[in-house]
Amino acid sequence: MFCHKRRSLRCTFGSFFPGRFCRSASSFFNLTDPKFLEEKRLVVWFCSLVCVMNATGSMGIAVTVRPCCRLLAAQLFPECPCHQRRAAAAAFFFPRCPHDRLRASKCPRAPSLSLAPQRRSAASWVRAALAPARDEAAVSDARRLSTAAGPVPGGDRAFERIFVQGLAAVEPLVIERVAEQERMLVVEEKRKVEEVEEEQRAEMAKAREVSESEKEAWRLLKNAVVDYCGSPVGTVAATDPAVEALNYDQVFIRDFVPSALAFLLKGETEIVRNFLLYTLQLQSWEKTVDCYSPGQGLMPASFKVRSVPLDVSKDEVEEMLDPDFGESAIGRVAPVDSGLWWIILLRAYGKITGDYTFQERVDVQTGIKLILNLCLSDGFDMFPTLLVTDGSCMIDRRMGIHGHPLEIQALFYCALRCSREMIVVNDGSKSLLRGINNRLSALSFHIREYYWVDMKKINEIYRYKTEEYSQNAINKFNIYPEQIPGWLVDWVPEKGGYFIGNLQPAHMDFRFFSLGNLWAIVSSLATPRQAEGILDLIEEKWDDLVGNMPLKICYPSLEYEEWRIITGSDPKNTPWSYHNGGSWPTLLWQFTSACIKMGRPELARKAIAIAENRLLDDKWPEYYDTPTGRFIGKQSRLYQTWTIAGFLASKLLLENPEMASILTFEEDLELLEGCACSLIKSPRTQCSRHAAKSHVLH
Ligand code: GLC
Repeated sequence: MFCHKRRSLRCTFGSFFPGRFCRSASSFFNLTDPKFLEEKRLVVWFCSLVCVMNATGSMGIAVTVRPCCRLLAAQLFPECPCHQRRAAAAAFFFPRCPHDRLRASKCPRAPSLSLAPQRRSAASWVRAALAPARDEAAVSDARRLSTAAGPVPGGDRAFERIFVQGLAAVEPLVIERVAEQERMLVVEEKRKVEEVEEEQRAEMAKAREVSESEKEAWRLLKNAVVDYCGSPVGTVAATDPAVEALNYDQVFIRDFVPSALAFLLKGETEIVRNFLLYTLQLQSWEKTVDCYSPGQGLMPASFKVRSVPLDVSKDEVEEMLDPDFGESAIGRVAPVDSGLWWIILLRAYGKITGDYTFQERVDVQTGIKLILNLCLSDGFDMFPTLLVTDGSCMIDRRMGIHGHPLEIQALFYCALRCSREMIVVNDGSKSLLRGINNRLSALSFHIREYYWVDMKKINEIYRYKTEEYSQNAINKFNIYPEQIPGWLVDWVPEKGGYFIGNLQPAHMDFRFFSLGNLWAIVSSLATPRQAEGILDLIEEKWDDLVGNMPLKICYPSLEYEEWRIITGSDPKNTPWSYHNGGSWPTLLWQFTSACIKMGRPELARKAIAIAENRLLDDKWPEYYDTPTGRFIGKQSRLYQTWTIAGFLASKLLLENPEMASILTFEEDLELLEGCACSLIKSPRTQCSRHAAKSHVLH
């Protein structure tokens, strides 16, 4: 864990993508050359090749060309007999280029370590983001359920194989040209070329329109990068020069996720790989809080790179990683979410780089299993939800979220789905995979059934009988209807609904917590209808949940006696401030991912526009106060990294909505049927409101 380092060691800077393929594509096809356009034989020739490919469906086509590609496609396929498939074929053959304008900008890149990844070409980057694992047999069957297009094998040279070798292999067809037809074709051709050129111009204009906010955000994000032994390993939580750093000069696991996403979407993968590997090493550290040792799989909440002078020479320092497992955190809170975020990031890294061998490494597999062992170990639990203490997630102070808070459950569900995809199937992992599947079924049933509220359900709770003693109880948790808070009666809209914050015996926490609800959408913990309902509610309650700054961490705030008792009179968590109803711009990237998944990007666009209006001028605060988020938070830090990174990640996701699939999951009907079947078979158990099967359908 130690490495020796001279004081003068600096990181080098350079750009990541060579942009080789766009250039090679356009130089191979001179698209502006009229001779090329006139050459119908070539076009027909190519069409026949494509159609043969379509017909056989077995070509294993590996084309790695980039955005210039729509132009190519339009020119290569105009008369193709299978022209109705042209758009699809174009999309298949020519996945979008990674962002040229971003490629041009610089980012820190450390000299390679033994841990440093191989640099990947842009072509493989795009391919990987859309492709599932190379070796389907070696990993869990669940990877097929991941949101991915088919594999595109063949490496970067595949382009040449298709367009050079492929063309040579197909016999050209000769067609008779009739003058009028010819003229029409030329006109049509010209129109299409103009159309494509127009589209290209628009794209280029868009690419040039990097706002001042984005430019500044990238500068600040790079500034927040932390190096360890000459390699980037994470980003500090904040770089506000005006206040004491406290622990904000550390790399927080949860805070780094949006930074990682921004870097990954930009094609810079090294920092993420290093982060994943170093935190993995920290996980296996022996940790003690006073005399007690928490479980081995626990991931730290944060870590710091410390420089300590070497004994032998005063001029030399050695760097060391110093993790915090909660033993230094305020209130000694357990970082339950860290391991879950680590797993989620690991999957995203694999999907975007295509480097699935990384996930399959023994140390990485062990890391996943250690985290899962902690989460899946037997306890006194009666519910499939994870039982945690207060403050064990993004809200890391007392806020009355002990027990089974939604945020942890949604991340837990998502991490289980990620793990199911990544765990290598062998004799040693079979029972773990079975355990994961069982837990996923039970967890989704439990949350969908018992955490969901909408107008109809609240009315049902309002009329609940209590003290029901039997297997058939409707009011399973003995909720007293008097618990329904006054604010909810008027607040819950006719359309839409949400998952409540927490559920325990005789206790429903009706507050709306954004992060949990958003991850329920992203991970498909919510049914499609529930996911729609959550976005409907956010839209309906826009002024309350977005207002002047997206997004409220929770709604509403705790006030008066409730605040005093539940927060312990916390002066930082006063009503409508910080965790207690404050507005956190970092939630934007998670909102954007959820909106993209549900096909409602316009909602995210609206929220991003609101944030973009203020963040730069306000110097990227950590959070905002007041019911509508009008003021910069009372004790808010400025230059908060996950505010900056969340904004950038949101922008990048909106520009490349297909990339949201590195985070999202689709509904897995098999999982649900597993739960429905066992419930129906058991004579002692009955689903509460509906047959469990109905969950499969909603
Ligand atoms: C605050 C937040 C926590 C975050 C940390 C660093 O403690 O509550 O979620 O990780 O700051 O930004």
